[in-house]
This record gives sequence, structure tokens and C-alpha cells, in this order.
Amino acid sequence: MTTTQDRTDDRPQAFGENTYGDGLAAVYDFMYPTTPDAQSAGEHVARLAGPGGTALELGVGTGRVAAFTAAAGVRLTGVDASQKMLDTLHERHPDSGIRTLLLDFTSQSTGETFDVVYVPLSTFFVGRTQEAQLATMRLMREQVADGGHVVVEAFEPRDYHALSEVRTDTHPFPDGSLMIDTTAVERSLQLIVVSHTTIDRGRHETVKEVVRYAFPAELDLMARLAGLELVERSEDWNGTPFNAHSIRHVSTYRVAV
Ligand SMILES: C[S@@+](CC[C@H](N)C(=O)[O-])C[C@H]1O[C@@H](n2cnc3c(N)ncnc32)[C@H](O)[C@@H]1O
Repeated sequence: MTTTQDRTDDRPQAFGENTYGDGLAAVYDFMYPTTPDAQSAGEHVARLAGPGGTALELGVGTGRVAAFTAAAGVRLTGVDASQKMLDTLHERHPDSGIRTLLLDFTSQSTGETFDVVYVPLSTFFVGRTQEAQLATMRLMREQVADGGHVVVEAFEPRDYHALSEVRTDTHPFPDGSLMIDTTAVERSLQLIVVSHTTIDRGRHETVKEVVRYAFPAELDLMARLAGLELVERSEDWNGTPFNAHSIRHVSTYRVAV
């Protein structure tokens, strides 16, 4: 995600699409531990891909979902802008068979097609403008085989959209370090700016993250402009129906006929 990074022991790092991953790879699995939900995500993708099918995960990270997708028999390619995230994935899952590629999925294609192209955990929102998100949707369409599916998991943004003050959350990690997040919203641009500060034995490091949220209806419109149409929207990876109270959604699209 788009970040700036300030370190107590170093000069500020260059700003780039890799900075979120490079800055947070060491603590990412504390931020997002493996859950049964990640397993459900992998199994959902495997069902869509079919026996021996292929899939592409955008922003594969440390393989939280990808390990389950690959374990379910999918021939999986994962792309990410952070080499540190990809290195961590291969350390964590050395025998998973996941192929990884270092690229920016908002502007670059693998040049291949897959039975499923999916993007979990609101990572679609790393595109900071509507144009960047539309470009991502078009790239997903280009990389999905005819008859295949595109799946986007994202939060439903009404709570962020209503946030009028800076919010602070504290997350103690199992290794004794602490993460303090401050979150601010620029509503007119649909931008969320998060400062993740990790404090560990007297050292602190801050990684800034900027994402642009979109409501489900806008995602559907971007999908239509990219040549995709909505097949199903559920509130989780197990198919629980999406409703007015759902705080996230798993939206499945197919190539429009
Ligand atoms: C929130 S993590 C999600 C990781 C994984 N999919 C999961 O479910 O745990 C977002 C990932 O997207 C990567 N990322 C952010 N912007 C990207 C971009 N423009 N192109 C490729 N990867 C990107 C980050 O490096 C990070 O690994």
C-alpha cells in the first residue's frame, strides 16, 4: 500500500508501492494471524478454479490465504510489490509450490490468464484513485480466462466514511512489541490514512498506509466498465448472504456476456 516510512535508526526510505510490505513484513503475521476465514478463502477459490485449476492472488503477502489455496490443489501464482513479503512467504511455506512474481498489480500484468483472479483483505483499495482502481479492474479482466471468475474481498466502508475524528487503536503483539495505529479519513477523496507505529524494546518505527475505499456499488460499476458482471455477493468466504448490516463483502464477478 502507499506508504512513507520513518525510522528511528535510519533516514526516511523512498516512497513506493513496496513500502507497506517492506515496512511491515516482520510484523504482518501478528497484524493478520491465520484464521479459519483464511482457510475458507483458499477453499472458496479452489472450488471456483475447479480440479487442477489455476489462480492469481493480487497482493499475496506472506501467504496467509495463498497457502490454503495451494493446499487445496490450485496451481497458484501470487504477485506482490514487496520482495520482503514474498521472501517471508517462501520462508513460511517452503513446500507450497506457490509461484511468486514481484510486480505492481495496479499497473502491471503477468501476461497470463487464470481460472480465478482474486484479491483478499481489501487490498484492491491500494489503488489511491478511481482511475487506479479501474485500471486494476481492467487488468484483472485481462488476466481471467473466459469462463473464469474475479473475486474481491473488501470492507464495507460506511464506518470509515462516517469517521470525523482521528481514531487510535492499540495492538499488543505476542512477542511483547506494541503497534499503535492512528486512522484519519479524507471523505471527499474516500482516502484512509493510517500510521502504524511499532514500539519494540525502546525502538519505534512508523509506516504510513493510504488506501482509497469504495462502496460495493462503485466496485460493481468499475467491474462493468472493465467487462465484468457481478455473480454473487456474500459477507464472508463461506457464502453467508450479504445484507445491510454486513461490514465486509466477498464479491464474485465473471466475464460479461
Ligand atoms: C493487506 S496485505 C494482504 C496480504 C495477503 N493477501 C493476505 O490476505 O494476508 C497487502 C499486500 O499487498 C501488497 N501490495 C500493496 N500494494 C501493491 C501493489 N500496488 N502491487 C502489488 N502488491 C501490492 C503489499 O506488499 C502486501 O503484501
